[in-house]
Amino acid sequence: MLNSNKNLSLDWTKVHDCFPIEKHLQEELNSIIQAKRSLLEKSGPNAAMTGWLNYVDEHAQTILSQMAPLVKDIQSHSDAVVIIGIGGSYLGARAIYDSLTHSYASLKPELFHKKPILFWAGHHLSTDELVELLDVLDHFTPSLVVISKSGNTTEPALSFRLLKKYLDERFGAEEARHRIFAVTDSNKGTLLKLCKENGYAHLPIPDDIGGRYSVFTAVGLFPLAIAGIDVQELLKGVYAAKEDCASPKNNSLETNPALCYAAIRNILYRNQFKTEVFCAWSQKLRNLSEWWKQLFGESDGKEHSGIFPSSAIFTTDLHSLGQYFQDGERNFFATHLRVQDEYSLAQGSIKRKLSIPDAQLNDNFDFVLQKDLSDIQHDAQNGTFLAHCDGKLPTLVWEIPEINPFWLGYFMFTQFFSCAVGAYVRGINPFDQNGVEEYKNNMYALLGKPEFSHKASQIKKRIQTNQRLKSVGITSKN
Ligand code: PA5
Repeated sequence: MLNSNKNLSLDWTKVHDCFPIEKHLQEELNSIIQAKRSLLEKSGPNAAMTGWLNYVDEHAQTILSQMAPLVKDIQSHSDAVVIIGIGGSYLGARAIYDSLTHSYASLKPELFHKKPILFWAGHHLSTDELVELLDVLDHFTPSLVVISKSGNTTEPALSFRLLKKYLDERFGAEEARHRIFAVTDSNKGTLLKLCKENGYAHLPIPDDIGGRYSVFTAVGLFPLAIAGIDVQELLKGVYAAKEDCASPKNNSLETNPALCYAAIRNILYRNQFKTEVFCAWSQKLRNLSEWWKQLFGESDGKEHSGIFPSSAIFTTDLHSLGQYFQDGERNFFATHLRVQDEYSLAQGSIKRKLSIPDAQLNDNFDFVLQKDLSDIQHDAQNGTFLAHCDGKLPTLVWEIPEINPFWLGYFMFTQFFSCAVGAYVRGINPFDQNGVEEYKNNMYALLGKPEFSHKASQIKKRIQTNQRLKSVGITSKN
């Protein structure tokens, strides 16, 4: 994206400096361009699930108008909303919400947020997490948004049960009904049925968009709009990214980072770099890393192949994983996300920065006196990239101008595009995730789901046999 002098970039100098990537690049780029053509012409694998390519220009404004009264309604009666969903039905919204809102908002919402706080459920089966969420909800006046495309995923379905019961008991069934909203398939599924039976307001997930490509539909837009995030700016970023990535003329490594990234990932993978670590430089971007891992993990990991997507948060993890990055096995590469202009906007429109003060301490850190913390972060980044490159670790650096809705939308769409074309070159279908069904089937059989009863005894037997080799600690305590 070339606008004034702000754009997203992908720097691959430090791949080139430790691995001879250039000799493979042109050939790989040719395949990537072909894959891009199949994606846009909808002639590649599972083309029926490429609706995310055109959704923002064709449907997003309609869905925004449809959701506007619901958003207004929720904001008028709720100071907290629990978003219930898992995988693609929650990670994108959470990534954007965490990146853009005050980290401590839920402690003092009236000071640090002023719009409904979002809490998250349905993405785990942890008793602790749910019980503690219920404790917290007692101090708010909450609503629920349950998001599931299939409408029958176990984790969100069980959280929904528990939380609906909580609302019923706290507000009575009639008011509870008005505090429950859903985002689900427009034609089928158990959740849609529940909406119709109970009169829950609901928004559609299009048929041709799979979970992890759905953040720019109501799946992401609804929670974000409730929380007061500027979704129009987000969509502008997505639209600009699409114009840039998909333009038929924009096929060079120099001007199309999405294609460049896909080409480099495929080459590194074929040359034994089997793991990629996405490194964000702020705890607030932790869930952006989680979103990124899901996108690439579920899209790429097929037929016992594909890069394993992993993540780290720096500088924090430089003090735990840094040694391995520098000197460990050379079978992985690092992809950093660097933010050019770091500041906090979490409390309004004024950019807040920090410079290192004179605190009357004899701590030997006067050499950074008055230096901006974000400049120190940049020096830490440059020092790290160089050191890792000297350690022969291929290092890629995404750079975005700022963390704001526009650039998050732009970055995330660029990842969609890159992920899809990279997978197409490998002959992989990036839009299914059949592998995820395996654990579900075993779990259903163990839980006694009627359709799986025929598998139950066999699975129980296998689990017992699998536990025959065990090492048990000596001390026991009642
Ligand atoms: O990317 C995907 O399709 C998955 O991660 C799904 O989003 C996830 O399994 C949740 O599915 P559902 O929305 O049907 O509950």
